Amino acid sequence: MQGYIDWIRRYNEEKLLKSGSRPTAFTHHYGCQQNVSDGERIDGMLREMGYAFCERPDEADIVIYNTCAVRENAEDRIFGNVGALKHAKHRNPDMVIGLCGCMVQQEHIAEKFRGSFPFVDVLFGPSALPEFPEILYRKLSTGSRVFEILDATGEISEDLPVRRDGDIKAWIPIMYGCNNFCTYCVVPYVRGRERSRDYTRVLEEAQELVAAGYRELTLLGQNVNSYRSGDVDFVGLLRMVNDIPGEFRIRFMTSHPKDCSRELVDCIAECDKICNHIHLPVQSGSDRILHQMNRGYTTGQYKDIIGYARQRIPGVTFTSDIIVGFPGETRDDLEQTIALIREMDYQSLFTFIYSRRVGTKAADMADPIPEQEKSAWFRELLEVQNAISKKRYEAAVGTTVRVLTEGPGKSGDGYMMGRTASNIIVEFPGTAELRGQFVDIAVTDAPGWALAGEIQA
Ligand code: 5AD
Ligand code: SF4
Repeated sequence: MQGYIDWIRRYNEEKLLKSGSRPTAFTHHYGCQQNVSDGERIDGMLREMGYAFCERPDEADIVIYNTCAVRENAEDRIFGNVGALKHAKHRNPDMVIGLCGCMVQQEHIAEKFRGSFPFVDVLFGPSALPEFPEILYRKLSTGSRVFEILDATGEISEDLPVRRDGDIKAWIPIMYGCNNFCTYCVVPYVRGRERSRDYTRVLEEAQELVAAGYRELTLLGQNVNSYRSGDVDFVGLLRMVNDIPGEFRIRFMTSHPKDCSRELVDCIAECDKICNHIHLPVQSGSDRILHQMNRGYTTGQYKDIIGYARQRIPGVTFTSDIIVGFPGETRDDLEQTIALIREMDYQSLFTFIYSRRVGTKAADMADPIPEQEKSAWFRELLEVQNAISKKRYEAAVGTTVRVLTEGPGKSGDGYMMGRTASNIIVEFPGTAELRGQFVDIAVTDAPGWALAGEIQA
């Protein structure tokens, strides 16, 4: 890999000498944190290849869209954004347009780009990420298009360069792929089977990040609960990360309810650095639909683990994902979901209208409810959750919350903002030197989707 990076760096240095300006890259990483984390590696490789980063795709020498396949609207947006580059490529035929990530791992999508988007130069799926330098080298050295869709079983490639998005919060991938085959989901097809990183490499990365001043580490995987490296399972890994000396906090996502054990809850309760917040996507409140989704748990089991966590972890909060309009879902199923949402008292919800994904089991299920009705159900769910969230925000007034300060607040000079363990935005009077520090805030107000307060004396 290094040889190809070096070749491209020399190629770019020659361009710099000729034109007087450094070749530029524009990248955009769509979708989940896992994809954003892959994107930090793409950016890392581009930086080592000698590219400077620019803000606009139409001005760049290379554009990389790192795509997402989870829902159709994400794919539509990407088709639109790639189509918009046609004129820029016409103006600058040397521009390289590249696509990678989950969406293009699907054969029918890769074929569409091959046939209908002749100005797309390189295309590769998530498993070919470490091959990116070689793919780009082939494009630059021969001028021909390079499409590389490997089977999604790739070995984990350690030691890829990383250009991190922030200097306070960092993502650490601990595993790749998914074995669960929820019937609506394309992820197992495009990202392949579960592979866990060696725990020693995860710990090294966490130690380096803490030493570099990062204050929040998020361990990432499609299903972190099934992490395993030798004798070390997810709970073991969390305890080891928690033992790293320093002032920082630990998050993880995503946790699958079927594998979220009491042992994990005990671990969160006992480890001081792990946030008392769990994102535990339930998807539906109807046991019939959960079964159709192949989720592997019932609402009863889900409520049990949430109940246990509430007992064991002081102040614990929950967030969740919901899919509305899964094939065959009825009004009665929806009402069960609404009842569950009320009962769970989530801090916030990520709600999605079901999107049919080619090749998944649910794609072949009868889906009689019209989109319009699904949209009405979706709005109904949002309203229910908005009322719950509003009540929870208002209930926080008068309490004290611990916040990691991230940067300037929206209210202008003299204000800073940060987030609580449950990811709630809090704004308070403060100055720039608080950035990266933990502060205790006495909450005085709940304006909209944030809290406001003052640093506790
Ligand atoms: N349609 C709608 N939402 C989906 N999700 C995953 N696949 C689909 C789909 N086909 C949602 C799930 C998951 C979140 C990341 O995206 O709620 O938890
Ligand atoms: Fe998709 Fe289910 Fe795997 Fe999550 S656990 S990535 S929803 S198949």
